[in-house]
Amino acid sequence: MPDDVREAWALAGDRVGAIGCRVSWFADLGSTNDEALALARGGAPEGWLVGADAQSRGRGRHGRSWESQALAGLYLSIVLRPPAHAVSLITLAAGVGVAEGIERASGLDARLKWPNDVYVTPAHPRKLAGILAEAGATTVGVDHVVVGIGVNVSRRTWPAALASHVTSIEEELGRDVGRGLVAAEVCAGVWRWYRTLADGAGSAVLAAWRRRGADSLGRRVEWLSPEVRTGIARDVNEAGALVVETADGLVAVPAGEVRWTT
Ligand code: BTN
Repeated sequence: MPDDVREAWALAGDRVGAIGCRVSWFADLGSTNDEALALARGGAPEGWLVGADAQSRGRGRHGRSWESQALAGLYLSIVLRPPAHAVSLITLAAGVGVAEGIERASGLDARLKWPNDVYVTPAHPRKLAGILAEAGATTVGVDHVVVGIGVNVSRRTWPAALASHVTSIEEELGRDVGRGLVAAEVCAGVWRWYRTLADGAGSAVLAAWRRRGADSLGRRVEWLSPEVRTGIARDVNEAGALVVETADGLVAVPAGEVRWTT
């Protein structure tokens, strides 16, 4: 671990749980998720943390790339080995944990957009962090889940296509915060909500998600199924799907591409 992360990590104490039991940290890497998936397939224990100062092939959801400029953000992946009952809500639990960690580290009012985009300023939402959870399965079920977390920490000049809908913690605060503190608090938040879920309290995860995700409910969405369908987002269900009110009744949309049109 780099010194700035190690110092803040020590302050988090046992709140990070098993996360960081082993750490692989790189100055430059293709994708921390790819590295963590390879480690998990090779038997890495739960909590193994992969971090990088920069990524050359950072991956986002739906095949998008993730802007991973050197030292401008956190690029982390955590190997988890969830019990079967915890798998379906793991992306929502990770979102709650990351939002809570950012809030503890910075004081920012971090909100969630389904399933787990972390953003601020609901009137003009700008994304602070994103999560890419990828599972590896065997014939008997899910063997591991890698939770990949990208957090925009420092001020920077964004590519024109992103500039109006992304931001960073330091840009919002107008002061430095330090990636070490953010890393430690984000991992403490992920551990807290992952353990809550693994211990059987999925309803507490959903309640916490609803508190932070309320702004995305009541909004109009469209998605492909296979033709374009539209409706109003109303809730999330116990499987983590978005519950949408359509002309034909309530429909549960699993974690695919949903476009928010209002
Ligand atoms: C999203 O599309 O919102 C998810 C972005 C996830 C980015 C992180 S950065 C660390 C980890 N490694 C990757 O290649 N992606 C995730």
